[in-house]
Amino acid sequence: APVQVKKIVCIGAGYVGGPTCSVIALKCPHIQVTIVDLNQARIDAWNDPDFNLPIYEPGLVDVVKECRGRNLFFSTEVDKGISEADLIFVSVNTPTKKSGLGAGFAADLNYIELATRRIAEVSTSSKIVVEKSTVPCRTAESMRTILEANAKPGCNFDILSNPEFLAEGTAIDDLFAPDRVLIGSLQTAAGKSACESLANVYANWIPRERILTVGLWSSELSKLAANAMLAQRISSVNALSAVCEATGANIDEVAYAIGKDSRLGSKFLKASVGFGGSCFQKDILNLVYLSESLHLPAVAKYWHAVVEMNEHQKDRFAKKVVDTMFNTITGKRIAVLGFAFKKDTGDTRESAAITLVNHFRAERAHVSIYDPEVTESTIMLDLTNYGEIPAESVQKNVKVAKSAMDACMGANAVVVATEWDEFKTLDWQKIYDSMDKPAFVFDGRLILDREALIKIGFKVTTIGTGA
Ligand code: NAD
Ligand code: UGA
Repeated sequence: APVQVKKIVCIGAGYVGGPTCSVIALKCPHIQVTIVDLNQARIDAWNDPDFNLPIYEPGLVDVVKECRGRNLFFSTEVDKGISEADLIFVSVNTPTKKSGLGAGFAADLNYIELATRRIAEVSTSSKIVVEKSTVPCRTAESMRTILEANAKPGCNFDILSNPEFLAEGTAIDDLFAPDRVLIGSLQTAAGKSACESLANVYANWIPRERILTVGLWSSELSKLAANAMLAQRISSVNALSAVCEATGANIDEVAYAIGKDSRLGSKFLKASVGFGGSCFQKDILNLVYLSESLHLPAVAKYWHAVVEMNEHQKDRFAKKVVDTMFNTITGKRIAVLGFAFKKDTGDTRESAAITLVNHFRAERAHVSIYDPEVTESTIMLDLTNYGEIPAESVQKNVKVAKSAMDACMGANAVVVATEWDEFKTLDWQKIYDSMDKPAFVFDGRLILDREALIKIGFKVTTIGTGA
């Protein structure tokens, strides 16, 4: 019979481990959930008495308030967490490798391996080990080999793949009512039984028909495939946005018309300054590397084009800003609204705003940045490339503003990089009055009322809108 899960530990208290396991604790009061991490500051923030949590995610605070100290715990005692649990989520980071074999493409599996070795070392009873991180296809095999080679007598490890599909900014809603939960296991009796144990946890709040059970390798590959296809939609729409700009077509109208086809659907067709976030690029590059390793260069090339188009979109938009402002922005003041990679998150990983500001800096413009959820220190880390570039050189031409109004007052141009709702309702007349003329607005997210801005007097450039 499947093991009844009573204690869960999650290794990795990040954007995935934190929200995912907090929601499990909320929905399963009978299960004790402990989220562990080596990063003391991060754990301290999860335990903050005033609930200033390490990540901003709508609805998350309420979940943590209800469960923390009841059946949800945050701790740096990784070993203790592992040894007590019957089920272990491995939710550590899997960034793109920076050096060595596959640098720039392959996933760095060092954190996965270290966590796996720790599990083998400290476990004195059998465990279900669940791969939650996004990993290359067949990583579960490596984990099994490591676990079996180091297991204590009598300790048995079943490995499951359970990739996470939440999106930042909507993580709590996504976790409450996911389109599907995917669990991959070996198709052996033991594998299926472990799969059933985890399915029973999710069944506390998710209808059974939404819990999909498949083979391990299908599960691992499905995660990379889902992200690759989502990103591909954005690159497709962004490629079309360039055609719109050159022809007088309008990308929102084109996307609307395309999306009415029920075979295509209307979601994820918003043109933009380029997709960001910690995963799309990383996971596609991972798929590219996997394809190349499997001697499938044409497949690798196909997926790589999605990332190349995204780079092109970011560069194209930056170039458009310079071109429109009479081919020079040297010494001009550019207000950048938004720095996060999308609205409703403070996460800036791979944000298109970073690329834009770097372009503007290279042109020696003066940039003032405002984002409602991103701190100045995060912006500086991103723009100094985590300390590689001296902070003084960045501070010379970059300022972080306290409000959108502050950023915009007196600027030569306003650039919308993130689609925060508050940017739609700014006092644009007041902004216009304060700016040098001609006053430029560049809408990289298609959120502003173009006609209203033109009426005020702005010169408006919108992604995917022809003259
Ligand atoms: P993250 O960097 O926010 O969190 C990972 C955490 O793991 C860090 O706090 C780190 O200190 C900790 N850690 C690393 N090694 C450890 C170890 N050996 N022991 C204990 N703690 C350790 O990363 P994330 O955004 O949560 O992503 C985690 C995984 O989930 C990645 O594989 C990612 O691709 C995947 N994923 C992310 C998202 C997302 O929206 N961010 C969505 C779906 C899947
Ligand atoms: C994405 C996927 O949507 C999740 O299913 C997945 O779990 C996650 O990656 C992951 O594996 O990390 P996330 O990156 O958090 O989630 O956010 P998205 O909403 O997918 O947005 C990604 C980027 O694409 C953002 O920069 C967003 O602004 C951009 N985007 C999105 C567009 O430019 N146009 C769109 O139509 C949609």
